[in-house]
Amino acid sequence: MTVKLGLVSLAEGHKPAGLAERFSPGFVWGVATSAFQIEGATQEDGRGDSIWDVFCRRPGAIFDASTGEVACDHYHRVDADVELINSLNVGAYRFSVAWPRVQPLGQGAWNEPGFAFYDRLIDALLRRDIAPHLTLYHWDLPQALQEHGGWNQRDTALRFADYAHEVGRRFGDRLASIGTINEPWVVATLGHQTGIFAPGETSRKVATQASHHLLLGHGLALQRLRSMGLRTPLGIVLNQSPTHPATDRPADVAKARLDDGLLIRWYTDALLRGEYPRDVLEELGADQPDTAPGDMDIISQPLDFIGINYYTRNLASVDTPTEVLLAGRELTDMGWEICPEGLTELLLRLHRDYPLPPVFITENGAAFPDRLVDGRVVDTARVRYLQTHIAAVADAIEAGVDVRGYFAWSLLDNFEWASGYAKRFGIVYVDYATQQRIPKDSAYWYRDFLAAARQPTPLRSPAGALATGS
Ligand code: FCB
Repeated sequence: MTVKLGLVSLAEGHKPAGLAERFSPGFVWGVATSAFQIEGATQEDGRGDSIWDVFCRRPGAIFDASTGEVACDHYHRVDADVELINSLNVGAYRFSVAWPRVQPLGQGAWNEPGFAFYDRLIDALLRRDIAPHLTLYHWDLPQALQEHGGWNQRDTALRFADYAHEVGRRFGDRLASIGTINEPWVVATLGHQTGIFAPGETSRKVATQASHHLLLGHGLALQRLRSMGLRTPLGIVLNQSPTHPATDRPADVAKARLDDGLLIRWYTDALLRGEYPRDVLEELGADQPDTAPGDMDIISQPLDFIGINYYTRNLASVDTPTEVLLAGRELTDMGWEICPEGLTELLLRLHRDYPLPPVFITENGAAFPDRLVDGRVVDTARVRYLQTHIAAVADAIEAGVDVRGYFAWSLLDNFEWASGYAKRFGIVYVDYATQQRIPKDSAYWYRDFLAAARQPTPLRSPAGALATGS
C-alpha cells in the first residue's frame, strides 16, 4: 500500500471540510492541558507542595524565574474555561489531577476541597457533553514522597496505585478514559538524568530505576482500577518520536538505534511485550534498574488504549550538535523541527512492531512567538502545524492504524516547565497580566474544522445511499 505522507495531503487538508471527511464520525477531537501548567492556587484549600513547586524555587531552574503559583488561574476560572472549550466545538478534554491537591502528602489523608475542584470540573464538562479524559500523573509528585526518595523508591509505585484507586473510586464512572502516567521517559530522563526538570536529579542509575518504578506504578494502578470493576478505558501516555540517523555512517546509525531504544522500545517493549530491550540493558550495564520477580507481568497487562504525544522527530549523530543538524530546517519556538510525516511513520512503525491497542494522539501542537495585535493573534504557522499533523494522522488511519482520537496541545498558553511562560503552546492566548483568554486564529480554525468534522457528510450518510464514493 502506498502511504501518503502528511505534506502530500496538505492541499485538501487546508479546507476544514476536506480534512474532516477523512475521519469517522466517532473520532474523538479534544484539547489537552495539565494541572500544574494551568491551575495556579498552589497554596490554596489544603494542597500540598509538589516537586515542581520546590523545583521552581531553585535559582536558575526556570528560564524566566517564574512559578506555578498563579499560572492561568484555572482553579478559579474553571467554569469559564470549560465554556471556552465548548465554544470551540471541542468534544473532549484531557486534563490531569494534581496528586498533592487531593492527597497533600502522597499517602494518608485525602483532601476533600481538592476532590471538590475536580468534581466540579468533571460536572461542568459533562453538562456540556464534553468527554473528560483524566490523567493521573502529569509530573507533580507530592514533595513529601520525594523526601522519601520519590520515583527512585519502589514504595512510590505502591502509593501511586492507592491514589489511582481513590480517584477511580470517586470519578471513574464519569470519565471517558483514565491515563496513568504522562510521558515516563520525560519524568525519568529529564527529571533524574539530565536534571532539567523536577526533581532535578542527575544520575542515570536513578533515572532508569525511576523509569521502572513509573512503569510498575502504572501496572499496579491498572490492577487496582480493574479490580474495582471499572469499565472506563485505561491506558498510559508516551512521548514518542522516530529517530533518524543524521548520516548513513555506521556510528550514526548505531546511535539512532540506541536512542530509539531508550526513548521508544524501553517503554513499548516493557508495556506491550513484557521485557526491556536487550541492547538497551547492555548499554545500561550497572545502571540497569533493580526489578523484582513478576514486575514485568504487572507492567505488561492489557491496555485499553495507548496515548501518544508527538511533537517532532529526532536526529542522531555521534559528533554533530543538534543545532547544526537543524540549521535551515523549519523549527518551532522550542527549536523542534516541524515534521508531520514523522507522526505517520511513528504510528505505522508501532502498528507493525507491536500488538497495538487503540491509539489516541493525546498531545500534538507547537509553540510560536505569538503576538497579540489589536485583539487578534495571527498564528498561521500553528494552523498549518495542526492541519499537517491531523492530515498525518489521517494518513496513518488510512494505512490501517487504529487511531481513535486527537488532542491539541494546548487549550491555553501555560507554564511550559523549565521554559516558564516564555513559550506559548495554546490555541488560546493568555494575557497573564489580566488573565484574559483570547482565542488565536488556530482556535478559530480548529472550531470550524470541528464543526465540519461533526457534520454528517454524504460519504458518511447513515442510510448509506451515497456511501459508494470511497
Ligand atoms: C509534553 C508535556 C506537556 C507540554 C508539551 C509541550 O512533553 O507532556 O506538558 O509541556 O510537552
